[in-house]
Amino acid sequence: MKDNYYFDNAATTLPKPEPVYQFMDKFFRSHGVNPGRSGHELAIEAETMIIQTRRMLGEFFGFGGDSNRVTFSFNATDSMNLALLGLLNPGDHMIITRVEHNAVLRPANHLERDGGVNVSRIAADGQGYIDPEDIRKAITPKTRVVVANHASNVIGSLQNIEAIGKAIKDTQAIFIVDTCQTAGVVAIDMDAWEIDILVFTGHKGLFGPMGIGGMIVREDIDIRPVKTGGTGVNSVSDFHPDEYPHRVEVGTPSIPGIAGLNAAQKWFAELGRSTTGNGTDVSSHKAACDAAQDHIHSLENQTVHRLIEAFQDIPGVVIYGPAEKQPRVATLSINIGDLPAEQVGTMLDADYGLCVRAGLHCAPVIHRDQGTLERNGTVRIAPGYFTDDEDIEQAIKGVSEIATL
Ligand SMILES: Cc1ncc(COP(=O)(O)O)c(C=O)c1O
Repeated sequence: MKDNYYFDNAATTLPKPEPVYQFMDKFFRSHGVNPGRSGHELAIEAETMIIQTRRMLGEFFGFGGDSNRVTFSFNATDSMNLALLGLLNPGDHMIITRVEHNAVLRPANHLERDGGVNVSRIAADGQGYIDPEDIRKAITPKTRVVVANHASNVIGSLQNIEAIGKAIKDTQAIFIVDTCQTAGVVAIDMDAWEIDILVFTGHKGLFGPMGIGGMIVREDIDIRPVKTGGTGVNSVSDFHPDEYPHRVEVGTPSIPGIAGLNAAQKWFAELGRSTTGNGTDVSSHKAACDAAQDHIHSLENQTVHRLIEAFQDIPGVVIYGPAEKQPRVATLSINIGDLPAEQVGTMLDADYGLCVRAGLHCAPVIHRDQGTLERNGTVRIAPGYFTDDEDIEQAIKGVSEIATL
């Protein structure tokens, strides 16, 4: 019996692969210096590790451009703010969807209220899917930005980002994708899908630690720096450097965070190579990591379908989101009878050791559309790559026993 059964992987993944902990510890001890500033050997080696991580992440996401366009920040929220505040001007129009996280909703709301930006919010269907045509039809000559999330962090619906990208590619709109719930789980092809800015967070499916995230910015897009300061380059200049990555990076970077992402990238490639059958070419980093993500996605979906099948048979359990076989990630939202979501979450934790999240999950608008706002949200059960049979059985036990109370 375990002390805890972890089902909060949509918030952050736990555990991380062992090499991530090991390399972070080792590299931080040996190279925990300020890169890009000092010219000594340790600083150069730390900078080399950062450059290698930018290259691996660019390839991982299918970005064929200059890896200096792979930029680091604290997390996805930080990069999303940098992108939106650095791109939009009064009088501009932006399009977002109603399945977004507050990392998008709130910057958009502030830009609308305080920044003279017009915002259109595209609704999903009942299962959480956005019709790419709805986005295309909402575009006007003033549309500067379209933001869509790749998968809902509430109900797990997986959007067809390629179809959205293709639907708007001939317009002037800059296409920004929030990959928080998919990076590391669903293979992404930034170039083929016509994504202009890809925002990622390090601590979820990418298996890095908290405090590191970033964005990849296509080569013809210049984001106005909204944060400025030290970068270690051209210090004599009165102004922040124009070139990437410095253009959107400020201050001392997180060496432990980037080291974590570096080790995780190598872990993905190794997993991909060890899980692919003969005949598949996984010689490139991208191909190996895509194979790893196909493997992870398939395992996580098997887990979530086991949970759905069990929950469907329990009277009183309401399941939200995609119907069977529809594209999804493993994040699952349920409620039990009339019980408030928070009460169920507390009972699952206190009585069964289940770590789930109850409430709105920082995405209030999708709850309006799903009818779950009044009951203060849902109970989110988010299995991950390391979820095992014991975890699954405990989740089914907890939910079924509470439902029969
Ligand atoms: C879809 C989505 N977007 C954005 C975020 C924000 O990520 P972070 O808190 O790492 O910035 C999250 C995290 O919960 C998310 O699930």
